[in-house]
Amino acid sequence: MKLNDYERKHADTVRHLAPECTVLLKKDGAFPLSAPGKIALYGAGARRTVKGGTGSGEVNSRYFVTIEEGLEKAGFTVTTKPWLDAWDETVAAARKAFADEIRARAKQKHTLAVMEGMGAVMPMPEYSFRLYGDGDTAIYVLSRISGEGSDRTPVKGDILLTESEIRDILLLNDRYARFMLVLNVGGPVDLSPVAAVKNILLLSQLGAETGHVLADLLLGKSCPSGRLTTTWAAWQDYSSIGDFGDQDETRYREGVYVGYRYFEAVGKQPLFPFGFGLGYTEFETELNGADENQVMVTVKNVGAYPGKETVQLYIAAPAGRLDQPPRKLVSFAKTRELAPGEQETLAVAYDLRDAASWDEAGAAFVLEPGDYTVLVGQTPAVTLRLSGLAVLQKLRSALGTPDFTDWKPEPCAAAACAEKVIELAADSFTTETVQYDQAAEVDPILDDLTNEELAYLNTGLFDPKGGMGSMIGNAASTVAGAAGETAHVHGFPWLVMADGPAGLRISRDYCVDEKGVHALGDTMPESILELLSPMQRKLMAFLTKPRKQPGEIKHQFCTAIPIGTAIAQSWNTALAEELGDLVGDEMERFGVHLWLAPALNVHRDIRCGRNFEYYSEDPLISGKFAAAITRGVQKHPGCGTTIKHFTVNNQEYNRIGSNSQVSQRAMREIYLKGFELCVKQSQPHALMTSYNLLNGVHTSERRDLLTDILRAEWGYRGIVMTDWVIDSVKQVQKPRHRNALSDRVAAAGGDLFMPGGKGDWKKILDALKNGTLSRRQLEENATRVYHMAKKLTQVRPD
Ligand code: BGC
Repeated sequence: MKLNDYERKHADTVRHLAPECTVLLKKDGAFPLSAPGKIALYGAGARRTVKGGTGSGEVNSRYFVTIEEGLEKAGFTVTTKPWLDAWDETVAAARKAFADEIRARAKQKHTLAVMEGMGAVMPMPEYSFRLYGDGDTAIYVLSRISGEGSDRTPVKGDILLTESEIRDILLLNDRYARFMLVLNVGGPVDLSPVAAVKNILLLSQLGAETGHVLADLLLGKSCPSGRLTTTWAAWQDYSSIGDFGDQDETRYREGVYVGYRYFEAVGKQPLFPFGFGLGYTEFETELNGADENQVMVTVKNVGAYPGKETVQLYIAAPAGRLDQPPRKLVSFAKTRELAPGEQETLAVAYDLRDAASWDEAGAAFVLEPGDYTVLVGQTPAVTLRLSGLAVLQKLRSALGTPDFTDWKPEPCAAAACAEKVIELAADSFTTETVQYDQAAEVDPILDDLTNEELAYLNTGLFDPKGGMGSMIGNAASTVAGAAGETAHVHGFPWLVMADGPAGLRISRDYCVDEKGVHALGDTMPESILELLSPMQRKLMAFLTKPRKQPGEIKHQFCTAIPIGTAIAQSWNTALAEELGDLVGDEMERFGVHLWLAPALNVHRDIRCGRNFEYYSEDPLISGKFAAAITRGVQKHPGCGTTIKHFTVNNQEYNRIGSNSQVSQRAMREIYLKGFELCVKQSQPHALMTSYNLLNGVHTSERRDLLTDILRAEWGYRGIVMTDWVIDSVKQVQKPRHRNALSDRVAAAGGDLFMPGGKGDWKKILDALKNGTLSRRQLEENATRVYHMAKKLTQVRPD
């Protein structure tokens, strides 16, 4: 296979950047290896390496390098082929049994197997074949996959390790002089039974080049320099204070105590904490001064290998009327690659306002009086002593209220003061206020539109004459395999949208006839296809086949990049920007205007099936990485990101009809923070609301969220679309809460009801007729869509 020049270039970029996304969790100095040789390779991910998760985030890349291939290409001799063959047979049989079981369950429930099994995680099967293999080096690749539509579960073979995995990992650790456990996973697994293993590398899922990246790392051609962005603990140590996986109501009782904020507040030591990671080398860090804006840190490589170090700044805020977690991340910076003996001094800027708390009573962001100690990791660098209450922003109370009050930990001892103390007067902070209810712009060009046309501009593209409606994964008329398009109204430009976030999800192969583009083959993710019955498969093949002679078969080859969590594990926003740039290049090449990514929901619970797409349990990390990717994509004229899923979409189970109940404080400090940061730092061209409800109302129908918070408070200038609400798709039987409705979304200032259908369009027209929706509101929404479409298409005429 000969790659095109751009594909080669993009593959090289991924191979070059991805090592930074990997996290070395344990080491004994046996790695890196000095040369390739015989290697005993075991584990589910050795040959069946996972490049990323399933669902709408699955990228149809032309190729991808498995670990077995990567090692062989690098000159290793794999001595365990029979083991890998035996595993292939075991897993194929297990997959078949798993799909049969889903089909049977679906039949019983009178639902479609694809709905029942969407994203379902097949626990890894047990096995009993013998371990053997020449050489003194062994690798065991443990892998897991998850995806859209289902959550992970704490069972053996998913979050827990199987008996077979534990047995063999421990045995190999004893038997081989050099042994490494490699984790080809999208989120935490409970490593407590194998925590004694000498070398553990969180490789993650790195897209097309996964196998090459591991080979480079093993041979020391690159070095792991990632740090965890989510706490890795024994399963039973994670918080169980809030609900997870309830069909109708999900109470976020834990409030702001998410991830490390929880672990540190209750004094639990996880296996591998947030921010943790080793390298092949060692570093010494020295504090070189700090003030109220920055901390100077000198990092010296005192080991024998090159490497990069990350400096993490936290603030310990004083608990006053408002309780506080022991630390909150407020900034971070990464060194360049330092050779042994080399050093670099970093000036790490921070803003005390990032440690502010939401005071529900006064609807304001405040800093309560007391000592704010800035910590480099755990070491106090400077203490800012605030004399009185500083009110930073006075805002509107919004988003409703849950039916509980947030959990609070027992008060813990205040952090030790730094040697240097700076006195700050509360009145040195000004209080920001916001102009709400400002009139939105309406473009006079819309005056001439009929109500029908105007309503159509408020939805995605559908065929007004009926027909099949939108098909997930193939709803665009101009780019095969794109997820959607805005409506085509005569004389108005329209926008093409394609999924992500681990690259650009469009079809590899397609053809064009007088009716438009036709994807060939891969419109549906493999994980969904395998659930179809033979008849349904035939139908799919028929639907994706060109009616006449296909003529020329064309290609759109896109690069699979590392999953979101892996990108964030680099703690290097410049790296994220470069990957955004890569995706932007492919968008330009194939005519996509809006990438339906990045996804930045918070890792509230390790069970969420889509966490691999998201960045972190920390909102600062989430926001900064989403902003960096956006900057990379939006460097390309006519290309924009769509940040999603706004907001509190933290479980997959019944994501369409579940009501996330969350306090205003947790909303402001945890779940909105990343989106706010990203909007303010990068102005993404689009935003996608989530399917779920927030305190009783669908996020897409919340005017306070879309108009007051997003637009008025944060100054967002892009368009707002819904997630793909397809009326026929109901995930659970008899949910308590209905789906979001197009007329209510429009009334809330949501610009596009996606993917769009005749029923959604008619609903808007009915609401116009009966007066529950004004033409003016539709014009405001349509103006935003029109202006964005004009902006993105005029630089790149279609
Ligand atoms: C997913 C979105 C995706 C959309 C379009 C939805 O089911 O939740 O993340 O962008 O489909 O494919």
